[in-house]
Amino acid sequence: MKLLVTGGCGFIGSNFVRLMLRTHPDWSIVNFDKLTYAGNPANLSSIEDDPRYRFRRGDVCDEAAVETAIGPGVDAVVNFAAETHVDRSITDPEAFLRTDILGTHVLLEAVRRHGVTRFLQVSTDEVYGHVADGSSHEGYPLAPRSPYAASKAGADLQVLAYHVTYGTPVLISRGSNTYGPYQYPEKLIPLFVTNLLEDQQVPVYGDGLQVRDWLHVDDHCRGIEHVLLHGTPGHAYNVGGGNARTNIEITQRLLTQLGKDPQRYVRHVEDRPGHDRRYALDSAKLRTLGWSPRVDFEEGLAQTVTWYQEHESWWRPIRSGAFADYYRAQYASLRGAK
Ligand code: TYD
Repeated sequence: MKLLVTGGCGFIGSNFVRLMLRTHPDWSIVNFDKLTYAGNPANLSSIEDDPRYRFRRGDVCDEAAVETAIGPGVDAVVNFAAETHVDRSITDPEAFLRTDILGTHVLLEAVRRHGVTRFLQVSTDEVYGHVADGSSHEGYPLAPRSPYAASKAGADLQVLAYHVTYGTPVLISRGSNTYGPYQYPEKLIPLFVTNLLEDQQVPVYGDGLQVRDWLHVDDHCRGIEHVLLHGTPGHAYNVGGGNARTNIEITQRLLTQLGKDPQRYVRHVEDRPGHDRRYALDSAKLRTLGWSPRVDFEEGLAQTVTWYQEHESWWRPIRSGAFADYYRAQYASLRGAK
């Protein structure tokens, strides 16, 4: 199988590329990535000389560049390319509309022109919005509440419309909150771990009782692989970790592992606007097809913390670059929570 992966230099994309090359000796992968702030070629340095792997720099919104990348012989496209951070979508929504919606449209058109046999859109549980109780299955109404989630929901609807209108062989995976190595340190877990490793406080939004369902990146990648190989075109599949935890529980675990006193290191700051209180995914549909998460959450989290401890050379250059400006702008003005 010849795969075109977009956004393969990001967190989930790079883990996916590495895992697929390791587990499928007969696959080849072209990685098409714009190298935004979140895309890091160092994430794939271990496979850059693999003859089955090729990197091409480009933007999914650039039709000509996509056309060249898709070329002849691509069997499947897996679209990871996206702006993904909710806080950034609150301050700069337009970038999300461009990459997440327009970029998906450009890819769908290229897939249609070239008769590619599988197009997998990597989406998110955030498209369902806040889930008050129970869990959202794939037929649950889309009710996104942040500009990020709305851009992903818009793309999902367009992807499904291509199936109905043109018969495009599309699939959607909707993953829950993902953690693991190589995650850009703006997201909760790597931000808090690297803050603590730098002996800084961690900014917990509001009361910290928001609930997320945590999924190890390897389980997420195997879920995407499963949808790609076994999913029915025109369908979406939830990929949930089944590990519902409050943010404060996660924070406590990180503090304990790193030997930091909660009184000193936790700073409750004002809440994120429109903050979704709870996500919960029902993944029965994908489980019926034979996928299930394998990584124990407590073990996976502990290993992830250790990975950041052992890979300072990966995250230090990130944190001292443009990230430092972002961090200041995002957090400096936040007041303490009441
Ligand atoms: P995040 O990693 O941004 O993922 P998402 O918003 O897509 O779920 O945030 C996970 C949770 O952690 C979310 O409820 C917001 C919270 N959070 C904080 O409390 N402080 C922070 O500095 C960040 C980045 C997130």
